[in-house]
Amino acid sequence: MTSTVDTATLPDLPHWESTPADLGAAVREVKAAIRARIAASGRTVEDVFAVVEQRVAAQVAEIVAERERGGTVWPVVDYADIAAGTVPDDVLHGLQRRGCLVVRGHFPREQALAWDRGIVDYVEGNRFFEHYRGPGDDFFGSVGSKPEIYPVYWSPAQMQARQSDRTARVQSFLNHRWRSESDGVRWFDPDRDSLYPDRIRRRPPGADSGGLGTHLDAGTLDLWMTRAYQRAFRHLFDGTVEQYDPWDAAHRTAGPQYPGSTMCSAFRTFQGWTALSDMDHDQGVLHTVPIPEAMAYLMLRPLLADVPDDDMCGVTVNRVFPVSEEWHPLLMPAVSGIPDVRAGDSVWWHCDVVHGVDPVTDQRGWGDVMYIPAAPWCPRNEAYAGSVREAFRTGSSPDDFPAEHYERTWPDRFREDQLNETGRRGLGLDR
Ligand SMILES: [Fe+2]
Repeated sequence: MTSTVDTATLPDLPHWESTPADLGAAVREVKAAIRARIAASGRTVEDVFAVVEQRVAAQVAEIVAERERGGTVWPVVDYADIAAGTVPDDVLHGLQRRGCLVVRGHFPREQALAWDRGIVDYVEGNRFFEHYRGPGDDFFGSVGSKPEIYPVYWSPAQMQARQSDRTARVQSFLNHRWRSESDGVRWFDPDRDSLYPDRIRRRPPGADSGGLGTHLDAGTLDLWMTRAYQRAFRHLFDGTVEQYDPWDAAHRTAGPQYPGSTMCSAFRTFQGWTALSDMDHDQGVLHTVPIPEAMAYLMLRPLLADVPDDDMCGVTVNRVFPVSEEWHPLLMPAVSGIPDVRAGDSVWWHCDVVHGVDPVTDQRGWGDVMYIPAAPWCPRNEAYAGSVREAFRTGSSPDDFPAEHYERTWPDRFREDQLNETGRRGLGLDR
């Protein structure tokens, strides 16, 4: 059925390269147009959605069964296997299917613990807690008035981890899980990262945290509305849903995004963090719906008749993409937490994978992480690297984050002459 669709004859979709002025009207218009395009392919929205639902449901069942058997839903690999190129086939297969991975011993445990202490010295030495003005954004703002998310970007610890050979190897391994070239276009360079600066979380023993509800970071209404994203998700909208491949980077690395406080300017193949403390699996840790293909379900779900015409299942600009029992009950039984991790392990999930953070009360031990994603060099990341270079030189908060700029006057932040080749290339200082 799929090979008979001549997509060139299907009606074009309206598109908005910047945020539409009338969001409700644009949602109505694009939903009607996508429905018409699918109908013109000879299929119905219900038929296309049923295909996706069946595939995702099979994976949910598999995950639930695995958890009931006491298995680890998250694939786990030793860093040594990545370094030696000996990652076992079952891990490769698991990563492909689940879209997430724990890397054991990404850094030696002592190194990670030393970095954790180094961050404490860095912020205390610069009297950060005396000057802290409260949460600067509306995304992590719910965490509380004590900083658990530190708006600190340029510590020696963070920069050493970002530009380390070990991180470069893991990022390259992860990037190579994607198809980075097609139709004669190289969508990104899997062997060069763009050094995306992000924050630190340090959650102390005894902490209570409400967690973060399940959500998606990839985008908001732009996922349905820009020309580039419509091309990236073309198979969902033109009756060829069986060909949709969540690992295909085509059209994802150059197009515009709608701005918002939750937006990530970079294209990330995987989001990730590196543990700076040991964390048990029941201490308010990361959970995912470990099914990359669930993106197709999220993108098609608003087209069904039970969703109001001007509603995308609650997705709107300037707000994180919510994934909930209300609209996505199929996915919820698959929510699976990371196993216990130790300082120096790293945790990764595909940029389209649904995730959240469990609540915790009276946390045992610390919950400390450095957010370091895999953000390979591509037009979008090259453009953002320009502003990252400027923020690095001046100790400013990067453009994707609130303009708090605590580190501008901190004398011991990481310096340009401490960059190695990976760091220089990541910032676009060398080619
Ligand atoms: Fe997120």
